[in-house]
Amino acid sequence: MKIAVLPGDGIGPEIVAQAVKVLEVLRADGAKIEMESAPIGGAGYDAAGDPLPDATLKLARAADAVLLGAVGGPQYDTLDRPLRPERGLLRIRKELNLFANLRPALLYPELAGASSLKPEVVSGLDLMIVRELTGDVYFGQPRGIEVRNGERVGFNTMLYSESEVRRVAHVAFGIAMKRGRKLCSVEKANVLECSELWKEVMIEVAKDYPEVALSHMYVDNAAMQLIRAPKQFDTIVTGNIFGDILSDAASMLSGSIGMLPSASLDEHNKGMYEPIHGSAPDIAGRNLANPLATILSVAMMYRYTFADLATADRIENAVKKVIAQGLRTGDIWTEGTQKVSCSEMGDAVVAAL
Ligand code: IPM
Ligand code: MG
Repeated sequence: MKIAVLPGDGIGPEIVAQAVKVLEVLRADGAKIEMESAPIGGAGYDAAGDPLPDATLKLARAADAVLLGAVGGPQYDTLDRPLRPERGLLRIRKELNLFANLRPALLYPELAGASSLKPEVVSGLDLMIVRELTGDVYFGQPRGIEVRNGERVGFNTMLYSESEVRRVAHVAFGIAMKRGRKLCSVEKANVLECSELWKEVMIEVAKDYPEVALSHMYVDNAAMQLIRAPKQFDTIVTGNIFGDILSDAASMLSGSIGMLPSASLDEHNKGMYEPIHGSAPDIAGRNLANPLATILSVAMMYRYTFADLATADRIENAVKKVIAQGLRTGDIWTEGTQKVSCSEMGDAVVAAL
């Protein structure tokens, strides 16, 4: 298995280094994996003048899976839009056709106190958000900033074709089948035509999955319900922009955004795996970041691309163990637990493995 390793910017290199340590343990145990690194985001711009250098895209295309850290940093915010780090991330998602983004939100019982919500609201939480990742207002044309009637206007296009909705619907129903068989489709069909079509296609696809209970919710209500009573949800399917926002909200239910991995899959289960958090420039280079979301992303790589569930479980159990041991990076630290650095957390997971 070839893994393209793309550390990116900010805390990206630190957290990815911990995930690589985990992969090296697996390799020492006999896993046939090859790893090769390449720059992306601001690092891509620095190295090759492009947030997604050709060589990086080529490596990612040739790989079975991609492990990504994070992209972005204040030093790149003034670059022309196509040169900004985020564009590199959006382009690789689009180029590799990674249309199904899986973002689980799971609460480790020991971290209930680290959530900003009451423990009884979040304990036992196990939620999966399936976010469409290559369409919507993120990619719709036309888009731009121009002068109309003597003033500047900014515009984007929210657009979904029925085939785009259908393919992510099938992924989401498939996942719901393996979980609690409850799927909630989130949209804004009371206002947007794009959402009206989304909802119609969901209802059509539901006919293929009679065992799954499909429900529909407007995104504003879904935002409220996620905070009010998150355990009512099992699997959520939603578009790109709503999924972006709701998955950040859902991350806080689990204590810290530093805990949440993600998988972005194409139709052949080739995937890119990344923590859902960003590059955290404020703590970059200080060995403070939480590497667990990235390590858990490696577990998702084993689960979804390599279809090696035993190894996925092994990695997840190692993470559970270090949490149970009371080790905490700053973001999940609470009174009475032991504060550790990013690399110490990585070492602890390796030891637990
Ligand atoms: C995410 C991020 C990205 C997104 C940014 C960095 C472009 O917020 O993966 O959720 O909006 O998709
Ligand atoms: Mg986001």
